[in-house]
Amino acid sequence: MGAILLVGSSGQLGLELQKQLKDKNFEYITLDLPKFDITELDLVIEKITNEKLDIIINCAAYTDVDGCENNKETAFKVNALGAKNLAIAAEKIGAKLVHVSTDYIFNGQGEKPYKEYEHSSPQTVYGKSKLLGEKYVEQFSSKFFIFRTAWLYGDGNNFVRTMLRLAEENEELNVVNDQIGSPTSTVDLAKTIIDLMETEHYGLYHATCEGQCSWYDFAKKIFEIKNIDIKVSPVSSDEFKRAAERPKYSVLDNYMLKLIDKNNFRYWEESLEEYLEME
Ligand SMILES: NC(=O)c1ccc[n+]([C@@H]2O[C@H](COP(=O)([O-])OP(=O)(O)OC[C@H]3O[C@@H](n4cnc5c(N)ncnc54)[C@H](OP(=O)(O)O)[C@@H]3O)[C@@H](O)[C@H]2O)c1
Repeated sequence: MGAILLVGSSGQLGLELQKQLKDKNFEYITLDLPKFDITELDLVIEKITNEKLDIIINCAAYTDVDGCENNKETAFKVNALGAKNLAIAAEKIGAKLVHVSTDYIFNGQGEKPYKEYEHSSPQTVYGKSKLLGEKYVEQFSSKFFIFRTAWLYGDGNNFVRTMLRLAEENEELNVVNDQIGSPTSTVDLAKTIIDLMETEHYGLYHATCEGQCSWYDFAKKIFEIKNIDIKVSPVSSDEFKRAAERPKYSVLDNYMLKLIDKNNFRYWEESLEEYLEME
């Protein structure tokens, strides 16, 4: 087997994938900013066709949801064109492409977990740019995996670390209670990516931890596990106005993973406990 290329390897998911690939003795290389910018087609093709690769894993994205509203061009360049460039290059060398997408491709007004076949209708620049990225991957590469995940935390800036920091600086916190999702550990997501990437189970997958909660429930659980005594009050999203509107309901059903008997995601509380042992 040729090598694996990890793009965006210093982001949250990229770092966890590096760890797990190393542990499993996979041969991999990384290409990252500033030398490797996925928005530059010629560069992407040149670098990728110079390597003997079987699998390209794209963890690179412009993930600042509010930033995307104010930098629409960058959002579409990175999240849509970047994905397209990697798909074109992967196809040129016959490599598989693993791509990561998001719950933001839905409108967030659902009432039951979204399945892969349900209608996408993104409401934000981030969601729209990520949906176009998915479409390009489907269009330009023939051996692709797309994993839609949500509420991701790992080694990097994320909600868990923000809560722990805020708890050190404040005596009480207000946390929104009217947005529902599934906190997902990069550990679980990376395991699923590695499990599937060597197979021919190509296609689109929802890939989040099991169970659901609000950001308020998530915060309470973090403090309970860490034995942090702090007053947390539930508030509505109206009290936390952001540039990008947040989906009210973001729960994904890992339906296609279940159908191929590959849904090994744990309940979010269990993955969180493991994560917090290290924090
Ligand atoms: N975080 C979440 O809650 C969440 C939820 C749902 C889906 N996702 C998706 O999951 C994937 C991984 O997310 P993450 O949280 O690991 O992201 P992250 O920590 O923000 O990492 C993204 C990486 O992409 C790199 N990058 C940005 N623009 C690039 C470009 N033009 N060329 C090459 N690399 C570039 C970034 O580099 P710099 O740091 O140098 O900019 C960073 O290393 C993304 O596809 C994201 O859309 C994330």
